[in-house]
Amino acid sequence: MDRRTRSQKFRVRQDWIVAMGMALAVVTCLPSQAWSGDRSNEGCLMCHSEKGEFLKFADGSKKSLFVDKAQWKKSVHGGKLSCTDCHREISDYPHQKKKFEDARDYTLARANTCQRCHYAHYTRVLDSTHYEILKSGMREAPTCVDCHGAHDIHDPRTPRLGINARCATCHSEISDTFKQSVHGKALLENNPDVPVCTDCHGAHSMPSPSDSKFRLTSFQMCAQCHGDEERMKKYDLNTAVLSTYLDDFHGSSNRLYAMGAGKPTKPIATCSDCHGVHNISSFKGSATKAEARARVIKTCRTCHAEVPDSFADAWLSHYEPTFETAPLVWGVKLGYRVLIPLIMIGLVLHILLHLWRLKTHR
Ligand code: HEC
Ligand code: HEC
Ligand code: HEC
Ligand code: HEC
Ligand code: HEC
Ligand code: HEC
Ligand code: HEC
Ligand code: HEC
Ligand code: HEC
Repeated sequence: MDRRTRSQKFRVRQDWIVAMGMALAVVTCLPSQAWSGDRSNEGCLMCHSEKGEFLKFADGSKKSLFVDKAQWKKSVHGGKLSCTDCHREISDYPHQKKKFEDARDYTLARANTCQRCHYAHYTRVLDSTHYEILKSGMREAPTCVDCHGAHDIHDPRTPRLGINARCATCHSEISDTFKQSVHGKALLENNPDVPVCTDCHGAHSMPSPSDSKFRLTSFQMCAQCHGDEERMKKYDLNTAVLSTYLDDFHGSSNRLYAMGAGKPTKPIATCSDCHGVHNISSFKGSATKAEARARVIKTCRTCHAEVPDSFADAWLSHYEPTFETAPLVWGVKLGYRVLIPLIMIGLVLHILLHLWRLKTHR
């Protein structure tokens, strides 16, 4: 069949049967038979591999009816699914018509297609903040199709940078900020050790960052990497950042709340309050001691308003206290280290002596 008769077919609507009757003389393979008997991909693509035809909606928006055959074949579903596995309602031509207000309405309705086979992902999405946002009436929030596409779906995990690119189609500002950060710069060089958006947010069951639990547990998402010796060794970064945080006043309270001890009345300092979130920068060689201290005290003041400069000294940074840096804390810690084992040994000895006395002096 030549290109011309095929594109003609596309244009015919209600008068299709008449037109086909006329084409019968020149077309050897009868499209009406090929179509009604042939619900195969080839049958559908006979019309849908033509460019330049559109679905048009009442508000003037439109969607191309073109399906790129080559891309479809390369996609994760190509060779595995047929068109009608997803487009189950299409069984005839002209296709059954449904009313859609506009192009977005169409996409939102069609996005339900995926749930039949990917039910686990679908149920995860039901718990996500995007779904909540969508339900509240904001139609721009993403569905499966916005993140994965429909006919050109690829393995979404590779390339890793592609994940951020998906999010960036809607969150371009955050994405631009992130590219400037210590994590983002490394990611652009294909460093597999730094986080992409979904390492911190997840892709499907995404919690809302304004949820108090997200905030309370957010230190754990930093710690999964920054507490990992193996990963941090390469960058010569201190992995005591987690233990020192959990030892200090903020970390120990935060951990208790994260474990379910009620809700804090005021936000407690967590990793991202001091370091930023999407704009985290490196400390390496960037500042003199005085500059670093000024930065620290500025951070403290976001919550502890009007404290004097010396207040920053209440914080030991991420270092275990030593005799040189914090002799008093170091001394008290050492005292505990000696005293606690002595008390424990005494306690055990006491019990043992008691038992011995019971046995021998009964
Ligand atoms: C004879 C040409 C022709 C064939 C064959 C054909 N289509 Fe269509 N298709 C059209 C035209 C024209 C439209 C736009 C008008 C309309 O809405 O029916 C369309 C619209 C569509 C739409 C968008 C509207 C909707 O209901 O969602 C989908 C999806 C679709 N076709 C899928 C298929 C599938 C799947 C097959 C194979 C089973 C197929 N088509 C076979 C011509 C064809
Ligand atoms: C994995 C499920 C799936 C398969 C398989 C599939 N489609 Fe679709 N199709 C969709 C979804 C979802 C949409 C809605 C996309 C949107 O709104 O952007 C869609 C939309 C369409 C449209 C309307 C125009 C558009 O792109 O939005 C046409 C035409 C269409 N599909 C044809 C086909 C043909 C032909 C095949 C077989 C080669 C096919 N589809 C295979 C899920 C699928
Ligand atoms: C009729 C069943 C069916 C439907 C409907 C369907 N898929 Fe699939 N999907 C599959 C199969 C089968 C595979 C291949 C699994 C494999 O290779 O292990 C797959 C693979 C995938 C993968 C790759 C998974 C991986 O681990 O790499 C993604 C992503 C995907 N589908 C997304 C979608 C999206 C988005 C939709 C809706 C537009 C959709 N699917 C609709 C059956 C389906
Ligand atoms: C906000 C964007 C987004 C939405 C919405 C989304 N996904 Fe995903 N999906 C991703 C990303 C990114 C990945 C890559 C893996 C990861 O980071 O978890 C992925 C991975 C997948 C995979 C591959 C297997 C896996 O778990 O790694 C499948 C299948 C899949 N998604 C299906 C779906 C279906 C079905 C829907 C709708 C119910 C959906 N996704 C909605 C972004 C999204
Ligand atoms: C199709 C557009 C779209 C895509 C793609 C998208 N989002 Fe969103 N997202 C939205 C909209 C709309 C909102 C609500 C308004 C806002 O906060 O910007 C939102 C909100 C969010 C929120 C905040 C929710 C809250 O409760 O405050 C997070 C976190 C988020 N998106 C992460 C992601 C990540 C990560 C990806 C990529 C895997 C992604 N988004 C992809 C449209 C999108
Ligand atoms: C290192 C972990 C991490 C990475 C990577 C990350 N985020 Fe976030 N994101 C967070 C945290 C923590 C918050 C909560 C911030 C707060 O409480 O102010 C947040 C908040 C958000 C919000 C809602 C609040 C706002 O600022 O609008 C959106 C949307 C968002 N992130 C999108 C993204 C996108 C898109 C990417 C990828 C370019 C990304 N995030 C990468 C940790 C991360
Ligand atoms: C997926 C792993 C991963 C996660 C999650 C992660 N980081 Fe990182 N981070 C890294 C790696 C790797 C580097 C080193 C990058 C480089 O130097 O090129 C780094 C660098 C840093 C640096 C710069 C250190 C310096 O002085 O050079 C800071 C600060 C930082 N991260 C803080 C955070 C915070 C805060 C969070 C949580 C909101 C977080 N990171 C989450 C892997 C991670
Ligand atoms: C009270 C503020 C504050 C909190 C909370 C905090 N940091 Fe820091 N962090 C700093 C300052 C200031 C520095 C740099 C000065 C220094 O090294 O003494 C730093 C340094 C770092 C470095 C660089 C270490 C190196 O070897 O150069 C990393 C990585 C880091 N922090 C990660 C984290 C993580 C992960 C958390 C949460 C578990 C966290 N920080 C909590 C203020 C904070
Ligand atoms: C995000 C807000 C926030 C930031 C930033 C912050 N703190 Fe705090 N801080 C708190 C809260 C809330 C408490 C009370 C915690 C509790 O009740 O256990 C607290 C408690 C303390 C305490 C215990 C004594 C007291 O006043 O209750 C000290 C000391 C302290 N912070 C020092 C610092 C220092 C030093 C910095 C800067 C390096 C800093 N904080 C940054 C929120 C913050």
